Amino acid sequence: MQANQDTAVAAWHDVGEPDDFPDGAVWPVLADGLPVAVFRQGEALFALYDLCTHGAARLSDGYVEDGCVECPLHQGSFDIQTGAPCKAPVTEAVRTFPVRVVAGRVEVSV
Ligand code: FES
Repeated sequence: MQANQDTAVAAWHDVGEPDDFPDGAVWPVLADGLPVAVFRQGEALFALYDLCTHGAARLSDGYVEDGCVECPLHQGSFDIQTGAPCKAPVTEAVRTFPVRVVAGRVEVSV
């Protein structure tokens, strides 16, 4: 499985097995107590901070389509790979986190 990795960051946290994350969907986890939304697109994994930058809504309650996650509150959306806004009213990017798979476990660096 491919993963979004940043080997310069060492604080990796186990968040589950690859099969815990349904393909094409978003799943909430806690990484070192931080809410993170994990996305699986085929063999690739991505992670965003699980809070919309427009308001108090969890992106893990949203809907994934065309590489973006739609916020459930006002339907703004973010690119799941870069965190960049995809659709208004969102104007500010959401934080991204590196993801990797090691020995059959998914790890997020926060
Ligand atoms: S709270 Fe997410 S788009 Fe408004």
